[in-house]
Amino acid sequence: MRVDAVTLFPGMIDAPLSESIVGRARAEGFLELGFVNPRDFTEDRHRTVDDKPYGGGTGMVMMAEPVYRALKKVRKKNSFVILLTPKGRKFDQAAALELAKKKHLVFICGHYEGIDERVTPLADLQLSIGDYVLTGGEPAAVAVIDAVTRLIPGVLRKGDATVNETFTDGLLEAPHYTRPAVWRGSEVPAALVSGNHKLIAEWRGKQAAELTGKHRPDLARPPKPAAAKKKGK
Ligand code: ADE
Repeated sequence: MRVDAVTLFPGMIDAPLSESIVGRARAEGFLELGFVNPRDFTEDRHRTVDDKPYGGGTGMVMMAEPVYRALKKVRKKNSFVILLTPKGRKFDQAAALELAKKKHLVFICGHYEGIDERVTPLADLQLSIGDYVLTGGEPAAVAVIDAVTRLIPGVLRKGDATVNETFTDGLLEAPHYTRPAVWRGSEVPAALVSGNHKLIAEWRGKQAAELTGKHRPDLARPPKPAAAKKKGK
C-alpha cells in the first residue's frame, strides 16, 4: 500500500512509524510512506502557510492554496483522501478494515486551529480518532496508519493474529498471560494452564463478555432474538 501525508511536520509521522512492526513493514515494502509539505508550495519570502481567521478569534488557520497544491502533487486517480479533524467520523476497527483495502491513502493533516474550510470538499472522508483535540492531525495520522498497516496481509507474522482480537468481533479481547505461571504470588487462571482447548475457549469467551460489559457496555451487542426467546421460555 502507498500512503502519503500532506503535513507541515513530516517528522511527527515519520519518526513514530519508523519503529517496530510498521518500521519493518516499510523496510519490507508492504507500506510505502511519503510526505509532501504545503510549505514547499508557497511563493512568498516567508513561505507563509497560515493566516488569521476571518471574523476574528484566536489562533491561526492553514491557508487553502498551499494544501491544495501539495495534495495535487500526490493525488492519483485511485487515491482515497482523508482529512484528519476532530469534527470527522469516529475512527474504529471497521474503518481500519475498509481503509486497508485501498491502494493509495492520502492524509491531510491540519495544524493550528485547522485548515480553511474550502479544502474539505477535496477529501473523500473526514476522520477523527476521538473526542479530544490534538495539536494537529499528525498524531491522528500515525494512529490510523498504524492500525491500517497491521491489517495488510503479510505484515503480521502470524496469519491469524487479527482474527480473534479486540473489536473485530465486537468484544474486547480476553486477558493474556505469559511465563512465569506464578508472578509475585499472582497465578495465571487455571483454565489457561489446563491444556483443555474447550475450557480455554469458554474461559476466554466469558472474560471477553465480562470485560466488554464492564469497560465498554456501548460495544456489547444485545442477545440475538432466538437466544432471547429461549431465555423467556
Ligand atoms: N486533529 C486534532 N484533533 C484531532 C482528532 N481528535 N482526530 C483527528 N484529527 C485531529
